[in-house]
Amino acid sequence: PAAPLIDNFGRQISYVRLSVTDRCDFRCVYCMAEEMTFLPKPQVLSLEEMLAVARNLVACGVSKIRLTGGEPLVRPGVVELARQIRALPGLKELCMTTNGGRLQDLAKPLRDAGVDRLNISLDSLDADRFQALTRTGRLGRVLAGIQAAQDAGFERTKLNAVILKGRNDDEILPLVRFALKHGLDLTFIEEMPLGQISEHDRGEAYMSSDEVRERIGEVYSLEGVSDETGGPSRYFRIPGESIRIGFISPHSHNFCGDCNRVRVTTEGRLLLCLGNEHAVDLRAALREGGQSQSDVDARVRQRLYEAMAIKPERHHFNLHDEPQILRFMNATGG
Ligand code: GTP
Ligand code: 5AD
Ligand code: SF4
Repeated sequence: PAAPLIDNFGRQISYVRLSVTDRCDFRCVYCMAEEMTFLPKPQVLSLEEMLAVARNLVACGVSKIRLTGGEPLVRPGVVELARQIRALPGLKELCMTTNGGRLQDLAKPLRDAGVDRLNISLDSLDADRFQALTRTGRLGRVLAGIQAAQDAGFERTKLNAVILKGRNDDEILPLVRFALKHGLDLTFIEEMPLGQISEHDRGEAYMSSDEVRERIGEVYSLEGVSDETGGPSRYFRIPGESIRIGFISPHSHNFCGDCNRVRVTTEGRLLLCLGNEHAVDLRAALREGGQSQSDVDARVRQRLYEAMAIKPERHHFNLHDEPQILRFMNATGG
């Protein structure tokens, strides 16, 4: 195996989020503008190029890959890509984050392809509210998708909820009860200011994890547990229950100090941090020069090592300013 990827702050990269498409069949208010243009195809990595990126990352010690989007399940061929990535020697876990809308058809094929774990976004249990938040999503399909994931044998499936004050903060407890009833983990996420999103005022809708935790605390007691997933979440348990409740709090509890991850955008930009623009161009490394596997791999690995020198120490989000990060979440992979 090649040398591990270690940045200037001594953090080893073991977890990569790979965005397989910027497209999505939903238009969540905190993620996308209502009218979006998507990347032209030549700018997007082919499935073969994505596999080459994954192959080199795993060779350099990455043990966990999460496929993201946009919505990963709208990319044709994603199940086959998952199968090939899962077969890379050294990979311990292949996960996917999905909006759940297509899991009725795809949960079983994904499980058969070897995907280990799913995170499914669910911000509301009210059909009208769900549609208002996702603009084009249908709650019934997502609930059926969650059931399909459980039927297909996925374990430790996690729900993700972004809570916005005045929009879905009254659903915190219903979401906890839903997670308890179905034996699902649940993570509450603080909204992050990415992209120029006009329709709602981010500063006003922002709700901190501490406020969410207080609401839950009025009904359930929560005790902290240690985390094995290597993600940014802080986890809690309700005594006597098996599920975990997590909080991702980029604003109120910075987790950059032990950051172990980088992300690869659909265009093949290796982004060193969600909250900064530092990046290296893997697409150029893939496309420019000799095309034998050893040539491509040598160029990609060189870029990976170069990238370690520019991974920033931490992210700087400011909810009340103009967003400094103009790329949208869907182009970033979350
Ligand atoms: P596991 O821990 O493996 O379950 O996954 P995860 O929580 O890292 O992944 P998921 O795709 O479910 O992401 C949940 C939220 O965490 C999304 O809103 C991501 O944008 C956010 N997130 C993940 N990694 C980072 C990070 O490095 N920085 C910031 N600011 N947010 C992150
Ligand atoms: N802030 C926080 N989370 C976001 N997500 C999408 N956009 C944002 C944002 N601006 C979440 C989705 C999904 C996960 C991958 O990222 O809800 O669960
Ligand atoms: Fe699509 Fe996920 Fe963005 Fe919603 S948050 S629009 S489901 S990519």
